[in-house]
Amino acid sequence: MNVNVPPGSISNSPQPTEWPEGTLTRVPFWIYHSPDIYALEQQRVYEGPVWNFLCLEAEVSKPGDYRTTFLGSMPVVVARDSDDEIYAFENRCAHRGALIVLDGGGHARDFTCVYHAWNYDLKGNLKAVAFEDGVNGKGGMPKTFCRSDHGPRKLRIALFAGLVFGSLSEDVPPIEEYLGEEVATRIKRVLHKPAVVTGRFTQMLPNNWKLYYENVKDTYHASLLHTFFTTFGINRLSQKGGMVVSPSGGNHASFSFVDKSTQGNDYAAMGLRSENEDFKLKDPTLLDNADEFNDGCHMQILTVFPNFVLQQIQNSLAVRQVLPKGLGETALNWTTFGFADDTPEMKTRRLRQNNLAGPAGYVSMEDGAVGGFVQRGVAAADGERAVLEMGGSGTTNEGTRATEAAVRGFWKCYRAHMGV
Ligand code: FES
Ligand SMILES: [Fe+2]
Repeated sequence: MNVNVPPGSISNSPQPTEWPEGTLTRVPFWIYHSPDIYALEQQRVYEGPVWNFLCLEAEVSKPGDYRTTFLGSMPVVVARDSDDEIYAFENRCAHRGALIVLDGGGHARDFTCVYHAWNYDLKGNLKAVAFEDGVNGKGGMPKTFCRSDHGPRKLRIALFAGLVFGSLSEDVPPIEEYLGEEVATRIKRVLHKPAVVTGRFTQMLPNNWKLYYENVKDTYHASLLHTFFTTFGINRLSQKGGMVVSPSGGNHASFSFVDKSTQGNDYAAMGLRSENEDFKLKDPTLLDNADEFNDGCHMQILTVFPNFVLQQIQNSLAVRQVLPKGLGETALNWTTFGFADDTPEMKTRRLRQNNLAGPAGYVSMEDGAVGGFVQRGVAAADGERAVLEMGGSGTTNEGTRATEAAVRGFWKCYRAHMGV
């Protein structure tokens, strides 16, 4: 038997890269673990004509305030300058590439790189080079060196309802157009006045970022995977609700209304594990919902391609930023918030209900695991594909959440950017 496999013959084995012909109802599994796709996403998605969510305006509310964040894998500084405008630039020193800002945020007059002390203003302009003229007439930079020719890349900024978005592209449409009218309206529904940040945490997910992004647009799974929801009657597909998807397909909002009358026997009839009438909360105040937006809608989950989630689960409000950290690793940055005029009761209610979401959240802890189940499940399935036929093959608005329309919308938008 010949065991002399020629060098390179394994890595040269062809990897399928063609999208299955036809529709958005099939997703090839190589899309979650191809290194080529991962590299291309930085160029074509994050650095392409998209608006990346960077932070809340409330996090840089005063001149001199700054936050560090990311545009895909590119580190970014967001700062408010003395002209009260918000600027963002790559967090990369023009000299040898070190991070300019090392911490998560704070207040500064300017920034100095720790490596060789090159200095930048809050707009990211290079202002000073240590020993630029040398010492005792020796050394230093050449006379031809011009500071304004050197500096980190600068982002375009768009502000919308207290959200700060950034883009490296000149071709991205204005933010309102990018969001689509219905999604924009549903952002303003929650962020109808200035937010006050109440907390932050990062959750690491053992899966490709796209698996999380599909999950958050997947209205079908919510009441099936998250048994807390259905057991305590917070979210059942039979409740009144629906979904809007932006014309691009990339942005969506799903919402539901409390309606005890719809608690029929649909789940029991199917024998779904969500149905268990024996469980009771020891402290029912956990689910003490206040109709703060005066429309009876107790849950709204909204996404903006490629990295933003806005959460209203009862009175638990948060933004989530989805960031790729490798082929099979994703950082989910949560920022919880309320409003300046929250009463002490509302503050307590929000704090209590924040236990519903997050890595140990009663309802969403499963989302931290299920993406990893897929990542592991498809490890050797490059030639296979997922089926997305719930609710048909379209990506348009639906009066139901028993559909995968928003997930298909994600793939429509993703493929348009990626050219796959
Ligand atoms: S790398 Fe920043 S000053 Fe040298
Ligand atoms: Fe979920």
